[in-house]
Amino acid sequence: MPAQIIDGKAIAAAIRGEIKAEVEAMKAASGQVPGLATVLVGERKDSQTYVRMKKKACAEVGLNSFSYDLPEDVSQEELLKLVQDLNANSDVHGILVQLPLPDHLDTETILSAISLEKDVDGFHPVNIGRLSMKQREPLFVPCTPKGCIELLDRTGIEIEGKQAVVLGRSNIVGLPVAMLLLHRHATLTICHSRTRDLPQVVRQADILIAAVGRAEMVRGDWIKPGAAIIDVGINAVDDPTNERGYRLVGDVAFDEAKEIAGAITPVPGGVGPMTIAMLLRNTTDGAKRTLAGA
Ligand code: GUN
Repeated sequence: MPAQIIDGKAIAAAIRGEIKAEVEAMKAASGQVPGLATVLVGERKDSQTYVRMKKKACAEVGLNSFSYDLPEDVSQEELLKLVQDLNANSDVHGILVQLPLPDHLDTETILSAISLEKDVDGFHPVNIGRLSMKQREPLFVPCTPKGCIELLDRTGIEIEGKQAVVLGRSNIVGLPVAMLLLHRHATLTICHSRTRDLPQVVRQADILIAAVGRAEMVRGDWIKPGAAIIDVGINAVDDPTNERGYRLVGDVAFDEAKEIAGAITPVPGGVGPMTIAMLLRNTTDGAKRTLAGA
C-alpha cells in the first residue's frame, strides 16, 4: 500500500490559524501583538526569499514584523549594536538573524548577543545547551526540528520506543532534531558522511529524518516497510521540462520511497511550511511569556 503523504502545507495552515486566533485574543485583552525583527545581511537570493516569506507569514497571522536589511560589509560592531537595540525594544518579542552570515562576521558572537527571551530561532548557545540536557527546558526550540516533531505528532505517529535515524548533524537541523527525538524516548542513531554502510543503518529506521542536503540520496530499497519519513532536504536539480529550468527534490527519492514507507513528507510542501509556522509559534509564545511577566 502506498504511504500516507504527510501534508505539511495543510498542517502549517492549521497551525497558522491557531496562532491567528491567539494573537487576536492577546490584542483584545492587552492591546499588544507579538513582534518579530528580521535581520538580513547581504544579498543572498535564498536568504532574501526566506526572510520575505517569514515577513509575509507574520502579516497573515497578525504579527508585527520589523525588518533590517544590512549591507554585506556591515561591521560586527554595527550588527551587535542593532541586536542590542532590538533586545531593548519592548515591541520586539523575537529576533531572527538570517544565516549564514558573511565570513567576516562571527556567527557565535552574534547569536550569543540575542536576548535569551527573544531567541525565537533557538540558536543561542544557552538554549541549545539546555536542549542537549535532560530536564533543562530551553526557552525556544529551533524551528525546523520543532516542525519535524510536530508533523509526526499531528499525523499520529508514535515516537516513544521507536528506532529513529537522523541523517545529518548540522547545528540547525540534525543535532537539535536528534535531541528532541531522544527527549521523546526514541532510540537514536545519527548518521553522517563517515557512517559505514549507510543503507543498512537506514533500514533499521522506524522514523527517518533526512537532513543532508543531497538530492534523492536515500533510495527506496533503504526504507524499512511502514517507516515514517520526514524529508528536510530542499535541493534544486536541473529539469529542462520545468519553466524555471529546475525543480526541487528532497534527500529521499520520493517516488521509490512512497511505495514502501508508511508515511512520508513531500518536497516541496512537507517540512518547509512548518519551519515558518514554528517561527510564528515561538514568537507568539515569547510575547505571551513577556506579557505574563515570566
Ligand atoms: N538559515 C537556514 N535556516 C535558518 C533558520 O531556521 N533560521 C535562520 N536564522 N537562518 C537560517
